[in-house]
Amino acid sequence: MVIHDAQFIVSNIDYRQCPQDDKPEYAFIGRSNVGKSSLINLLTNRKSLAMTSSTPGKTLLINHFLINNEWYLVDLPGYGYARRGKKERDRLKKRIEEYVLCRTQMTLLFVLVDSRHEPQKIDLAFIEWLGENGIPFALVFTKSDKLSATKLQHQIEQYKQTLYESWEELPPIFVTSSAKGTGRDELLDYIEQINR
Ligand code: GTP
Ligand code: MG
Repeated sequence: MVIHDAQFIVSNIDYRQCPQDDKPEYAFIGRSNVGKSSLINLLTNRKSLAMTSSTPGKTLLINHFLINNEWYLVDLPGYGYARRGKKERDRLKKRIEEYVLCRTQMTLLFVLVDSRHEPQKIDLAFIEWLGENGIPFALVFTKSDKLSATKLQHQIEQYKQTLYESWEELPPIFVTSSAKGTGRDELLDYIEQINR
């Protein structure tokens, strides 16, 4: 798919205030600093459409980006981290959960995990919760440039084995690097397929 237009539309604290048209949307979720905003910039080929930072906790709102005037990419706050402690973390968690459960326009959620790390409890718990709530998702391994091809394969295999402990079928899996451009075409083709 060719992205010929990408525009920031709005940032919201609450899913109820998000755009009220019926365009399909694809949202990006995962731990703080996993690379959600960077991946949106990679997909749209724009350096700083979504704001990124080397410090976790950059994205705190629900951000809508309109693509080709037809569908949205949605940048969500990360989970598991908050500069101002547990209260803020719980507030962000609620914000994310409400969006995921109630935003009917959300066609698919991309769950990002850092390919350098073993399966983390917080990610597995979130994936479990998606399953319990019947939320369609795909799994995206980020920052693949940070490890060797062999190590990367090992990490993905390990993740699959862990998922097989509670899932009969695996979700679609993508491998990306926003630094190198890996996975861009695959993700966009996948979105195009669903949009059809
Ligand atoms: P929050 O908004 O805080 O939840 O973080 P985020 O998930 O949006 O992460 P963000 O895109 O801001 O990236 C976090 C850091 O990781 C930044 O310093 C990015 O440059 C870096 N980063 C993101 N993706 C990649 C990648 O594919 N490769 C490498 N090497 N660095 C990456
Ligand atoms: Mg972000």
